[in-house]
Amino acid sequence: MNIDGKQAAAELRVRLAKEVDALQSERGITPGLTVVLVGEDPASQVYVRNKVKQTREVGMISNEIRLDESTTEEALLTILAELNIDDTVHGILVQLPLPKHINEEKIIATIKPEKDVDGFHAMNSGRLLNGEKGALVPCTPQGCVILAKHHLGDDLSGKHAVIIGRSNIVGKPVSILFLQENCTVTIAHSRTQDLPNMCRQADILVAAVGRPEMVKADWVKPGATVIDVGINRIELSDGKTKLVGDVDFNDVSPVAGAITPVPGGVGPMTIACLLKNTVEAAKIYGK
Ligand code: GUN
Repeated sequence: MNIDGKQAAAELRVRLAKEVDALQSERGITPGLTVVLVGEDPASQVYVRNKVKQTREVGMISNEIRLDESTTEEALLTILAELNIDDTVHGILVQLPLPKHINEEKIIATIKPEKDVDGFHAMNSGRLLNGEKGALVPCTPQGCVILAKHHLGDDLSGKHAVIIGRSNIVGKPVSILFLQENCTVTIAHSRTQDLPNMCRQADILVAAVGRPEMVKADWVKPGATVIDVGINRIELSDGKTKLVGDVDFNDVSPVAGAITPVPGGVGPMTIACLLKNTVEAAKIYGK
């Protein structure tokens, strides 16, 4: 069966709209998210457009700062310093990837941790690792856990979660989140020996490697829950392009107990969780 990310994201947005209402009436705070986009990357433009639209739909303030590809690192740092002290801005997101002449690590480190709704700042990843309250947790990993629970229910304890991929954005944080859910967690990657066999041990299999349709049916234990984080654009023989995940959906679908489609799985949840983080930031740190 398919796990419907669009539906789960819509449900989360309904809840968030109510929280936004309450924040406004009880504390006079309207959560505000500012997205900064440098350059003209077409995929980034689509993401940013969706973020802006959905932010407004739940009643939050959405600002977009579009900067030319040639923007200097110094100019971007100055803009972030201003956003950091702006009380109407509760969440700051700098869309990645950035042009090559800008140091991403430096940019992420400059965002005030309390406004870092991507959860990429070392303060937030440290808080997540330590299990501290108040951490802003990366959006895609949160979405993965919510979708797994959608199918399996709230109690994931004792399940074996195998994560393929060890990125700072998905692989590492999603591993910590499943660990907090009392799962047994294995992080697999390109150097893992006999990767298909490792994946076959999973009750929950998360694919976050960026390799189109890599996970095949014989990598999946019958009945397993498969969460596909990949978004890959592939060219078809007729010259058209198509979005596919890291999982070969048609091959794996009959074996899996449940699987997230691409598109319409993890993607919509990522944006909904970004809104959730912004509401959270406004609730905890808003004035
Ligand atoms: N580019 C692709 N995914 C992301 C994300 O989750 N956050 C940011 N800031 N940029 C991205």
